[in-house]
Amino acid sequence: MKQALLAIAVVAGAAALATAVPVSAQLSSRPARPQVIPPQGPVRQIIFKNCTSCHGIDDYAYHALDKTAWSALIEDRHKNKPVKLAVADRDQLVDWLVSKFGPGTKPFPRAYVPPEITTFFSDTEAQAVLARSCTTCHDLERVNTGRFSPDRWRVLTVDMRERGAKIADEELERLVEWLGRTKGTNPNQ
Ligand code: HEC
Ligand code: HEC
Repeated sequence: MKQALLAIAVVAGAAALATAVPVSAQLSSRPARPQVIPPQGPVRQIIFKNCTSCHGIDDYAYHALDKTAWSALIEDRHKNKPVKLAVADRDQLVDWLVSKFGPGTKPFPRAYVPPEITTFFSDTEAQAVLARSCTTCHDLERVNTGRFSPDRWRVLTVDMRERGAKIADEELERLVEWLGRTKGTNPNQ
C-alpha cells in the first residue's frame, strides 16, 4: 500500500516537472534558421514584387557577398526560371543585399542544431554568462531592453557568436531559454 502511494506521488511529481519544462526546451533536431526583417522603402517593393513568390527572404542571411558575387548568386540559383528584374531595380536590390549581407558580415551557419538542454539557468548564472560573453562589443542595454520570442533570441545569439561572442552550444541554448523566459514577447509577463 505504502509502495503504491509512493508510485502515485512519483508520477504526479513527474507530471508537474513535465509541465514546467519551458516551451523553447522542447526542441526538434532541425537546424535553427535565420530570420530576416524586410527593409522599408523602395527595396521592399522590389523584393515583394520579384522575390517572394517562391521562397522567403530569410535564406539571404546564409550569404556574405560583395556586389558581383550577389549578382552571380541570384543568376546562378535561378537558372531554370530566371528572375526578370529591371536593371535599376537589380542595382538597388543588390546594394541593399551588400549593405545587410556584405563581405564584412558573417553568414548565418546552416548547421546549428540546438542541443537539448535539461537544466536551466538561474538569473545569477545567466547574468554571469552575459557579463563574460556579451560585453566585449557593446554593453548589456540591448539585451536588457530587448523583447523577442525564444526563436528570435536563438537567431540573435547564434549571430552574435558568428560575430565573435565566446559561448559554447549548451551554454548558448541555456542562455536562449533564459532570455526567452525573462525577456520574451508574452504580453502577460
Ligand atoms: C520562380 C521562383 C523564384 C523566384 C521568383 C525567386 N527565387 Fe530565389 N530561389 C528559387 C529556388 C528554386 C532556389 C533554390 C535553388 C538552388 O538551391 O539551387 C532559390 C534560391 C535563392 C537563394 C539562395 C538561398 C540559399 O539557401 O542559399 C537566394 C539568395 C535567392 N534565391 C534570392 C532570390 C532573390 C533576391 C529573388 C528576387 C530577385 C528570388 N530569389 C526570386 C526560386 C525563386
Ligand atoms: C564580437 C562583438 C559582439 C559580441 C561579443 C556580442 N555582440 Fe551583440 N551585437 C554586436 C553588433 C555589432 C550588434 C549590432 C548588430 C546590428 O545592428 O546589425 C549587436 C547587437 C545586439 C543586439 C541588438 C539586436 C537587435 O536586433 O536589436 C542584441 C540583443 C545583442 N547584440 C545581444 C548580444 C548577446 C546576448 C551577446 C552574447 C551572447 C552579444 N550580443 C555579444 C556585436 C557583438
